[in-house]
Amino acid sequence: MEIIIQPTPEAGSIIAARIIARLVRENPDSVLGLATGATPVATYRELIRMHREEGLDFSRVTTFNLDEYVGLPLEHPQSYHTFMDEHLFRHINVPRGRIHIPDGMAADIPAECARFEAAIRAVGGIDLQLLGIGANGHIGFNEPASSLASRTRIKTLTAQSRADNARHFDNDLAKVPMHCITMGVGTIMDCRQVLLLAFGENKADVIAEACEGAISAMNPATILQMHPVAKFVLDEAAGAKLRRRDYYRYVWENKPEWQRL
Ligand code: GLP
Repeated sequence: MEIIIQPTPEAGSIIAARIIARLVRENPDSVLGLATGATPVATYRELIRMHREEGLDFSRVTTFNLDEYVGLPLEHPQSYHTFMDEHLFRHINVPRGRIHIPDGMAADIPAECARFEAAIRAVGGIDLQLLGIGANGHIGFNEPASSLASRTRIKTLTAQSRADNARHFDNDLAKVPMHCITMGVGTIMDCRQVLLLAFGENKADVIAEACEGAISAMNPATILQMHPVAKFVLDEAAGAKLRRRDYYRYVWENKPEWQRL
């Protein structure tokens, strides 16, 4: 695990965008796993800037999104399809046919989940998966007690996750979907690299547990300790409760030049 603590969310987002951009420049056929939520928005903004000003080319990139609500029409303002279009896809040149987001309106949800897994396999797997983290440790929508070996499937959102997301649904809990389709924890662990972003003091407890606590399905993000290439990019506030934060800073500051971005 590599824990990179930056002074601000903006600085962290620039580092995250550089990690993704370097991958895309090195391999224009990269397969990117993408995330929703407030956290990755500034990273997407920086990628858009790099596309416009530095010619960062997504024309051969393939994308897979972590999750989608069940029962929200794709064009619903709060669907993750809409979110991704507004915050990234409409501003860059990734071809529509290479974008994959689970279809929460599918008539046969298990078949849709199997199709999604097969599509990931068909392109040879995901090179880098971007992740946020829920206050309860969920990655994607793998809520506490999710099997750490799970694959893409339907999940019931916890009361906490529904309450956290109610702000996007006119603060009306009744409008927040009860179910979602999410990549499984096993699906995420199969990605060749994971890049988890967490900003703000409300993530400090869950980040301390995810990085320094015991591996447990009660905090699914703890399994990332077993991933061979996992980077956590944090701001000071999200990293504030890490016992070894001085050590992580020391490692980052003393990286060999060739490992720096
Ligand atoms: C959401 C998403 C997750 C996201 C998390 C945190 O509901 N399903 O992928 O990482 O909750 O969201 P935020 O970044 O807004 O804190």
